[in-house]
Amino acid sequence: LGAFHQVAQAEVLINATNGTGSLAALEAAGEAALEGKILLDIANPLDFSQGMPPTLSVKDTDSLAEQIQRRFPALKVVKTLNTMNVMLMVNPGNLQNGDHTVFVSGDDAAARAAVKGYLQSWFGWREDRILDLGALETARGTEMLLPLWLRLFGVFGNAPFQFKVVS
Ligand SMILES: NC(=O)c1ccc[n+]([C@@H]2O[C@H](COP(=O)([O-])OP(=O)(O)OC[C@H]3O[C@@H](n4cnc5c(N)ncnc54)[C@H](OP(=O)(O)O)[C@@H]3O)[C@@H](O)[C@H]2O)c1
Repeated sequence: LGAFHQVAQAEVLINATNGTGSLAALEAAGEAALEGKILLDIANPLDFSQGMPPTLSVKDTDSLAEQIQRRFPALKVVKTLNTMNVMLMVNPGNLQNGDHTVFVSGDDAAARAAVKGYLQSWFGWREDRILDLGALETARGTEMLLPLWLRLFGVFGNAPFQFKVVS
């Protein structure tokens, strides 16, 4: 009941649960509380059950973001921020003056636009560094960056590092 009330009062939800628990956590909040909300989904479908490094519990033909969207169609799921360390998510300027890339995926164009605004106004992301990939299906690509991200962590350790797309 507590989870329901907290979620029902929020304007925007952030899914910061581990990927294997995301659906259960949203179930606990209840569909009624999720109605019409934007879900800023930063979770990764990492499966640690076979040890390190973790594998992806869903990939290639599906994604965690799409699983959430299918199960809760009243939500507007927008995948973003999952491809970087949490410190950079909310302080992009801490690395290269914020000159690195954050991806945005979601089926609802208005929700993607709203999230791009939140990224700028809440966390200070540069508009020209927000890369709108389009439909939620593109989250397959950003979730599948995690195996690379984990190997980069092996190289850089805790030092800040990030993906930067140039064209
Ligand atoms: N940390 C980062 O730098 C980073 C970067 C990019 C993406 N992410 C993604 O962000 C998510 C959170 O990361 P984290 O490092 O904070 O992970 P974490 O320390 O493992 O935290 C996961 C949280 O999810 C909660 N949870 C799991 N199942 C739940 C359920 N059924 N109902 C309610 N709550 C549930 C856990 O609660 P309990 O403790 O009570 O079990 C815990 O608070 C992950 O998906 C991760 O891949 C993290």
